[in-house]
Amino acid sequence: MESIGATALRQTTFLSPLPSPPLPSNDVSSLSHFSPFLFSSRKHSAALSLKLQKQLRIGDNNVRATNWAKCSATLSDTSSETSTLADIDWDNLGFGFLPTDYMYVMKCARGESFSGGELRRYGNIEMSPAAGILNYGQGLFEGLKAYRTQDGNIVLFRPNENALRMRTGAERMCMAAPTVEQFLEAVKETVLANERWIPPTGKGSLYVRPLLMGSGSVLGIAPAPEYTFLIYASPVGNYFKEGLAPINLVIETDFHRASPGGTGGVKTIGNYAAVLKAHTAAKAKGYSDVLYLDCVHKKYLEEVSSCNVFVVKDNVITTPAIKGTILPGITRKSIIDIARSLGFEVVEQLVSVDELLSADEVFCTGTAVVVSPVGSITHMDKRTSFGDGKVGRVAQQLYTELTRLQMGIAEDKMDWLVKLK
Ligand code: COI
Repeated sequence: MESIGATALRQTTFLSPLPSPPLPSNDVSSLSHFSPFLFSSRKHSAALSLKLQKQLRIGDNNVRATNWAKCSATLSDTSSETSTLADIDWDNLGFGFLPTDYMYVMKCARGESFSGGELRRYGNIEMSPAAGILNYGQGLFEGLKAYRTQDGNIVLFRPNENALRMRTGAERMCMAAPTVEQFLEAVKETVLANERWIPPTGKGSLYVRPLLMGSGSVLGIAPAPEYTFLIYASPVGNYFKEGLAPINLVIETDFHRASPGGTGGVKTIGNYAAVLKAHTAAKAKGYSDVLYLDCVHKKYLEEVSSCNVFVVKDNVITTPAIKGTILPGITRKSIIDIARSLGFEVVEQLVSVDELLSADEVFCTGTAVVVSPVGSITHMDKRTSFGDGKVGRVAQQLYTELTRLQMGIAEDKMDWLVKLK
């Protein structure tokens, strides 16, 4: 397990535009004009965040104009604020957005390198209406999780893989990208600054969302002249409302998620906008999510809107091979390695709808989803069920192995955890 010194992070200066010194975290009422971050209720947060939008702007120019000497705070000043658990209902976390205390922001001009990243109080950002991300979708995101382990540590799961994937995506999208080291440092700072939002062991995780945006103004088609790397975080529980119970998928036959030569293999924001129509229609019909097919033959599996898919037949686990149209999931890759270490044969190749529907077991993997068993798949109005409504044997075994590792219960033999504390 890699370890980093918390001391360095404790000395980090928080450049906050909030004109308030740290206040006792249990005196919530007195904070209401200043900070939406200490409230558990979304109603409160929304109202306060609107108020904050009026009171202050945290776009770069205005932030620079702020008197830092007055507003900065150090982690050591606020250690009780950052480490006392937030007062929210930890037993009922879903995968909804809950604003946390801090976000990380770093900028870079096209052709230059990122530098000067800093933590800021979480809040809305200001951007040119002509920003590349707003006009031409020049944006990427990542998703990774921080866990509170049983023995009181805080760990990240394979964050270097997210850093590398963002760099690959940035190359495809003609964007500047932070180095792996910058990415890791920024994630670590964000997680430690939001420590009180990391759920107790076994109740969820802190979902960390790094964004890379073409933030500079551009009118004709061209890479933006400026890039912003921003990380925010939110505590999360299960992605699907089914929790760990099997989900019900529908195969989409009209819409496609990606095409050869397109951007399906990178985590660009547009890939997720493209699935909303089919996803919304499927949800309205009671399905958990949509399984997409390849757009050429219309018969090979690609992925689900939010995760990768695996098929089990006679002790062989098969998953669609990564060929540019499927996101190379970090959980996908981890599950392949875990399954092989447990003695399963794992094959990455084309998987047809027929093979899927004759499988013994089907499951999905993703950072948000973790390992999610599939209870039924509907194709052309015909529903095929798996496992009599129970979690499949293989999915259960892989889920247990992965989550025991992430929670620090099992030994980290693969060296996948990065220990922050
Ligand atoms: C993740 O699993 O982290 C993702 O990015 C999927 C997203 C749709 C929640």
